Amino acid sequence: MARRSLGASLLSLLAVGNSLFFQTSVAASWPYGPLVTEGRDIKNTEGEDVVYAGVNWPGAADVMIPEGLQYQSVEYIVSQIKSLGMNSIRLTYAIEMIDQIYENDGEDVPIQTAFIEALGETNGTKVYNQVLAANPSFGANITRLEVFDAVAAECAAQEILINLDNHMSLGAWCCNTEDGNSWFGDTYFSVANWTRGLGYMAEHGKSWPALVSMSLRNELREPDNNATLAAASYNWQDWYKYIKQGAGAVNAANSDVLILLSGLSFDTFVTPVVRGTALTPSTSTFQLSDFAGYEDKLVLELHTYASTTNCTSLEISLYNSGFQAMHPEDPQTVNVFPIALTEFGFIQDATQWKDNVYATCVASYLAQEKASWMQWVIAGSYYIRTGVQDSEETWGLLTHDWSTWRSPEYVEGGLVPLINKTASP
Ligand SMILES: *[C@@H]1O[C@H](CO)[C@@H](O)[C@H](O)[C@H]1NC(C)=O
Ligand SMILES: *[C@@H]1O[C@H](CO)[C@@H](O)[C@H](O)[C@H]1NC(C)=O
Ligand SMILES: *[C@@H]1O[C@H](CO)[C@@H](O)[C@H](O)[C@H]1NC(C)=O
Ligand SMILES: *[C@@H]1O[C@H](CO)[C@@H](O)[C@H](O)[C@H]1NC(C)=O
Ligand SMILES: *[C@@H]1O[C@H](CO)[C@@H](O)[C@H](O)[C@H]1NC(C)=O
Ligand SMILES: *[C@@H]1O[C@H](CO)[C@@H](O)[C@H](O)[C@H]1NC(C)=O
Repeated sequence: MARRSLGASLLSLLAVGNSLFFQTSVAASWPYGPLVTEGRDIKNTEGEDVVYAGVNWPGAADVMIPEGLQYQSVEYIVSQIKSLGMNSIRLTYAIEMIDQIYENDGEDVPIQTAFIEALGETNGTKVYNQVLAANPSFGANITRLEVFDAVAAECAAQEILINLDNHMSLGAWCCNTEDGNSWFGDTYFSVANWTRGLGYMAEHGKSWPALVSMSLRNELREPDNNATLAAASYNWQDWYKYIKQGAGAVNAANSDVLILLSGLSFDTFVTPVVRGTALTPSTSTFQLSDFAGYEDKLVLELHTYASTTNCTSLEISLYNSGFQAMHPEDPQTVNVFPIALTEFGFIQDATQWKDNVYATCVASYLAQEKASWMQWVIAGSYYIRTGVQDSEETWGLLTHDWSTWRSPEYVEGGLVPLINKTASP
């Protein structure tokens, strides 16, 4: 902290005479935001590289609040994440939460109601009471958004950055191509509700010091439930049209946050954006000037879940899918961006992390690229997943009751070393 004290005292001095100056100046303390991009890097206001090394904390399923709170406190869960040396989380939410706030004249729903809606009267009441018992700071009438606020406040207290991710329109487990949440205009995926929700959360998140970036939409995918929509719209041209609307909604509400753009086919590729090739069926291409005034706020995100026995071929595939964006020296790279691998994961047992080629290959590749990443998933269980209550998550870093590491072997042998090789500052 010492090296920052001069800047900080200068700011306080100026603040005495002009409080406006203080409000509009950059933060002289953690998280040293707003963050910006510079070529393939994300930078903080100290000029340091910011590389996310973090984990997904889901909050977009039926109850529409962050998971795990019937078992552990917000403080405990954030402490566990922090203890690994991680610097960030990808916190997911559903647009339906904001739709319901609008329907309810601006008032959010108390979590007691949300639990009963999602789990039924008996189990909903029981789990709600468990949440209050595990989190004594929660008042009885706490709302969903206030739970998000509590998570954000604890992340700030423990210096964990937040990438806030719109995971679904409906509050439900994600994803498949027939769930009505696949693509812009799908059954539950209203573009107007989506941009309204993005703007709402961007505005609301101004009160979260830990919030530094927002993902526009998780895993866009072909709407197999609607052949007409798929044929007419599931393409890069419409992707670009809607991504510009989403990015514009976020930036208009909150010009500080970075904006993560995700690709097609479950966010497995963003190649035309990187190579500046036609956004088909149109012949036009990605133009940074379409994001005038916030050209230095865009980051690309990718997901990878694969089964492979050949690391070289997975590396080539990741490169061609988008990591090429971090290689300005490659003549094929037209648009240089930082890449964040915001989902990858595997079963947390004693051996997968070291014996499964996919698991070892992703780890070595991230370290080699010094790219940002967020593993799926911290959750040891979910309140409810596709109808199953208290559902076990074998990919969760934590055990069912979120108390301890599911695979201490991985944490020690794979995860902490990866964090050590990538997390920055
Ligand atoms: C309610 O919770 C119990 C476990 O406490 C579980 O056995 C039961 O299946 C749940 N009810 C529903 C409808 O899922
Ligand atoms: C919760 O709301 C109910 C009904 O509006 C009210 O009677 C009660 O006092 C509130 N409880 C707390 C702790 O604010
Ligand atoms: C398919 O999507 C289009 C465009 O959003 C919509 O107008 C139409 O009603 C949808 N069809 C069905 C069967 O849901
Ligand atoms: C959009 O939000 C409104 C509430 O403002 C809601 O009634 C409507 O169902 C939502 N649309 C979709 C497609 O979910
Ligand atoms: C692995 O993939 C690379 C790249 O596709 C290929 O050149 C190599 O032959 C493969 N190795 C094996 C053992 O199949
Ligand atoms: C992190 O890596 C450095 C070397 O780069 C090593 O000295 C240090 O012990 C490592 N720390 C952990 C926790 O692995």
